[in-house]
Amino acid sequence: MIVMESNDFYPSYKIEDLGIGSFSLVENFIRNSGLIFDGFVGGKGDSLDLLRDKLLRNKAKIFIIYVENEIVSYSVLFSKRSTISKTSYDWHLAYVYVDASIRRRKLGEKMLRFLINFASKTKANEISLYASDDNLPAIQLYRKLGFQEHKFIANYVWFKLNLNLFR
Ligand SMILES: CC(C)(COP(=O)(O)OP(=O)(O)OC[C@H]1O[C@@H](n2cnc3c(N)ncnc32)[C@H](O)[C@@H]1OP(=O)(O)O)[C@@H](O)C(=O)NCCC(=O)NCCS
Repeated sequence: MIVMESNDFYPSYKIEDLGIGSFSLVENFIRNSGLIFDGFVGGKGDSLDLLRDKLLRNKAKIFIIYVENEIVSYSVLFSKRSTISKTSYDWHLAYVYVDASIRRRKLGEKMLRFLINFASKTKANEISLYASDDNLPAIQLYRKLGFQEHKFIANYVWFKLNLNLFR
C-alpha cells in the first residue's frame, strides 16, 4: 500500500512495507540511525543480523518512508506470543525512526498510523512497545495516537495499544 500527500510544509512521501528479500535496501539507513547495533561491531541482542533473520522468517515487518526517493524513516514490528492466549500473537513495535533532518513534519505520526492500520488487519490483539522515560518526542507521539501507559520498568515506559479499537 502506498500513501501520497503534500503541502508547503509536509513533504510528499511514500510508505512501503519492505518485502522479505529487500533488507539490503534499508540496511545502511538502519545502521546509520544508531538504533540497532551491528552484530559485527559489538551489538548483541538487537543486531542487524537478527533483524534480517526475523524478516526472512516472517517474524518481523519493516516499513519505510521515502521522500523524493530517499529513505527518511523506518519502523519495525516484531510478532510475539500473545499475553492472553498461547495460540494467538501480538505485535511489538521495536523501532521507529525519522531522519533528524526531517523531524516534526508528521512523518513519525504517518508511519505509526500506517502500521496501526496494518496491524489492525491482522489477528493480533495489541501493539506493545517500550520507550525510554526521557524520550519526550516518542512518548508524546505514542500518547497522541492512543497508546496507554501500563507500567514502568526501570527507566522505561511500557505502552500498549488495543487493536480492537481500530476494527
Ligand atoms: C519519535 C520520532 C519518530 C517522532 O518523529 P517526527 O516525525 O519528528 O514526529 P511527528 O512530526 O510525526 O510528530 C507527531 C507527534 O509526536 C509528538 N512529537 C514529535 N516530536 C516531538 C518533540 N520534539 N517534542 C514533543 N512532542 C513531539 C507530538 O505529539 C507530535 O504531534 P504534534 O505535531 O501535533 O504536536 C522522532 O523524534 C525520532 O526518530 N526520534 C529518534 C528515534 C526514537 O527515539 N524513536 C523512538 C524509540 S522508542
